[in-house]
Amino acid sequence: ITAIATELKANLKQFPNFPSEGILFEDFLPIFTKPDLFKKLVEAFKLYIGDKKIDYVVGLESRGFLFGPTLALALNAGFVPVRKPGKLPGPTYTAEFQKEYGSDKFQIQKDVLPAGAKVLIVDDILATGGSASAAGELVTASGAEIVQYLFVMELDFLKGRDKLGKPVFTLFGGQDQKFSS
Ligand code: PRP
Ligand code: MG
Repeated sequence: ITAIATELKANLKQFPNFPSEGILFEDFLPIFTKPDLFKKLVEAFKLYIGDKKIDYVVGLESRGFLFGPTLALALNAGFVPVRKPGKLPGPTYTAEFQKEYGSDKFQIQKDVLPAGAKVLIVDDILATGGSASAAGELVTASGAEIVQYLFVMELDFLKGRDKLGKPVFTLFGGQDQKFSS
């Protein structure tokens, strides 16, 4: 996993002062432009999960949708989206969380995750942990069980993992610079 992480990290693209002054944006989209890198990303996560039982991968809109379904297939699990409000039809659970300015909401459809289902929650970046913990609330409200959180990158100085209360794996952790989420 470390070897794969090193190779993938070398393929991130840095954008200084995006989306605002003083922020170094780490863009992981180049990974998806090359099938061998995309395969390695999924392989690294699959290696980490090992033989832990995962029934569903829950991916967070938007960037968690880029690899969540692919990882779900690789794990022979279902995929369930957590979406921004007003996007999902039918009855939903809603969880509110704090953003840099103001608050935001996430939703999941009711009756999609079976009670007791084992869930892996995935997203691109763990920053403050607000989005991920809201997704966790939705999974718990559904009666399913969070087995693991998994991210590509982590802004560890924001201590997002302290909000999650379940195992957290990030491929590139221990960042010491000011990256954007
Ligand atoms: C970013 C990122 C994570 C979240 C991390 O998403 O993709 O989902 O912020 O931040 P947090 O840990 O502080 O909650 P963003 O809301 O920018 O939207 P996007 O994924 O739709 O681009
Ligand atoms: Mg996001």
